[in-house]
Order: sequence, then C-alpha cells, then structure tokens
Amino acid sequence: MLAESFDRPPARRHFASDNNAGIHPLVLAAIAAANDGHVAGYGDDPYTQRAEAAFRALLGAQARVFFTFNGTGANVVALAAAMRPYEAVICPAGAHLNVDECGAFERFAGAKLIDVAVEDGKLTPQHVEAALTGLGDPHHVQPAAISISQATEVGTVYTLGELRSLGEAAHRHGLLFHVDGARLANAAAALGVELRTLLVESGIDVATFGGTKNGLAFGEAIVLPRPHALCEALPFVRKQGAQLASKMRFIAAQFEALLHQDLWLQNAQHANAMAQLLASRTAALGVPLAYPVQSNAVFAILPREAIEPLQRERWFYEWDAKRCIVRWMTAFDTTEDDVHAFADAVAKVVRTTPPLPEQRAPA
Ligand SMILES: Cc1ncc(COP(=O)(O)O)c(C=O)c1O
Repeated sequence: MLAESFDRPPARRHFASDNNAGIHPLVLAAIAAANDGHVAGYGDDPYTQRAEAAFRALLGAQARVFFTFNGTGANVVALAAAMRPYEAVICPAGAHLNVDECGAFERFAGAKLIDVAVEDGKLTPQHVEAALTGLGDPHHVQPAAISISQATEVGTVYTLGELRSLGEAAHRHGLLFHVDGARLANAAAALGVELRTLLVESGIDVATFGGTKNGLAFGEAIVLPRPHALCEALPFVRKQGAQLASKMRFIAAQFEALLHQDLWLQNAQHANAMAQLLASRTAALGVPLAYPVQSNAVFAILPREAIEPLQRERWFYEWDAKRCIVRWMTAFDTTEDDVHAFADAVAKVVRTTPPLPEQRAPA
C-alpha cells in the first residue's frame, strides 16, 4: 500500500486522515519561537509550565497534565499506570487501543483488553455490566477500567448524558473511566460544551487530549480533571514507556499555541464543518452514510467498483471492504474548495459506476 501511495499523483490535501495534515502555521511559529537558547529538559522549563497553566485555565485549577509524544503512548501510559497484570480494560471492539496499536497496551501493561461488540462505536452501561463476569474469581481477569474514544473511531460523539451514565456505571463498579481523546477537540466542538464540563461532569478520570490530529506536528496530553491516585504513578510509567520528551519545550510550546485563544476549538469546529459539508454534498448524490456524521469523519457506502478509481484521484482508506464502507476525514486545513472538488470526483465515479447487484435497493 505504501508503494502504491508513492506512485499516486501528488495531491496537496486529501481525505485519508486528519493526521495527514500539516502543522498549523501558529503552531509552527511557536516551535520556531521556542527554538531559542537553552532551557532545562524533561519538562522543567517555562514553556511546559505555561502550557500546564493553560490546561488548568481550561479544565480547572485542580487539573493535572502529562505530555506525551503520540496517541498510542498516551493511551498505554495512562492505562498501564492504573493496571495490575491480572486486571483488564473493557472497551469497544473497534477501539484504536484494541485494533490499531499493535497490542502495545497488552505488551506494556501485561494486562488484558475485554473488547465488546457495539453499535455506532459507542460503549453503553449495559455493555459494561455484561462484561463484569468472574469478579473475585482468580480464574478470571478482573475488570479495572473502561476505555472509550470520544469522538469514536466511526466519528460519532457520546452525548453528555451518555458519558454521565457511563461514568456512573464505571464508578459504581470501582472502574477507572478512561477516554481516548485523540479527537476530544472535535467532540467538544460538536457538543458545543466547555471542555471542563465535558470532562468533569461526566466523571471521566483520565483522558487524552489529542494535538496531532488538530494542528500539532506531534504531541498529546494525558489530562486528569481532578486529583487521582494515578498521578503518583504517571511520571514513572511515562518515563518507562519512553514517552517523556527530553526536549519537552517543543511539545509544550505547541500546546501553548493550540490552547491560546481557543485555536484548538476553532480548528476542530472548522474540521467538523467541512465534514458536514462533505456529508451533505455526498448525500445529495444518493451516496448512503454508514454512520451519522457528528465530528470530522464521513463514512460512506460506495459502489464497490467506484472505490479504486476514486482512491486514485485522492487517497483515502477503505474502512470495511466487505460492506464497501470508506472513511473520509477532514482536518483543520481542509478548505471548502477541497470538499467541492472531492465531492465532484465522487459524483463522477458514482455516476459512471453501476451498483453491484447486492448493493441495489431491494425491488
Ligand atoms: C482514536 C485514536 N486514538 C489514538 C490514536 C493514536 O495516535 P498515534 O498514531 O499518535 O499513536 C489514533 C490515531 O490514529 C486514533 O485515531
């Protein structure tokens, strides 16, 4: 697939992934500005102090933050800090943690994931209750946490009510409530609620706040909205997990720029708006959507024969080959012109490709 993508004609912006986008100019400027003189390493520097203060301004004075290089590291470090080897994390089967992180959690934490089949990417309290089996029985792993993604891997967004009931269910059973927030900004933008409300009112214990998909070169933050026993272990687990940056100032400076005047929110609002535009253009073509478009992802069902020709025009991933579901992602730098040009390309291939018999509506 890599070789193929080298062969394809150059496309400045496509719809494959939000982490295929570049760096927001203000973030790039902040990296350049931080490239000045020497400061202490490993986070003991003024950039990190300012970025942590910016997170506290956003999340509340009690919040704690730990910067990491990437999303996989942030998930693994946050959860590993909470786990004993005979414990387990309940998560949706499609969780990035479960299917896209090469077993990093299992290897690093030495613990188990209990993956649950869900609808629309969302775990419910009923799923959690059903997964709580073998409690106290030494023949079975002991669930110690739940992990969800907000926004989910299929672009849907948990409502505040859904989060609250999940938080209640988790805490009723003494489970840590972890959120993979690689796209937390997009979820907050979609819900139109303050990040503090989203995290604190729903009872989330620990979340990641994604930077990479929202305009950073690299960098994620593990955030805890209020003090938690986890904070004791996190600095050590982050270092063991190779996620403690020696030149921390270059992650911190990026976050400082992202949090300044709500750039994170503007970026996410823009990406979400571009997804809505793409969804409305493709829906007008009669292209069905596999999931509701609630953040910056559009999952469309295309005629099988249309997928490859369209991929040749502008690269994107086939999400579910069997069901002909493709994933299109928008980013902070997607323009309306990009969306219209892509939707025109979709229109062209869909018009010239008859649906296969199994994709035709029943007579
Ligand atoms: C939901 C989700 N979580 C975590 C990650 C991991 O991020 P990284 O690739 O930086 O490790 C991704 C990246 O695609 C993601 O989509």
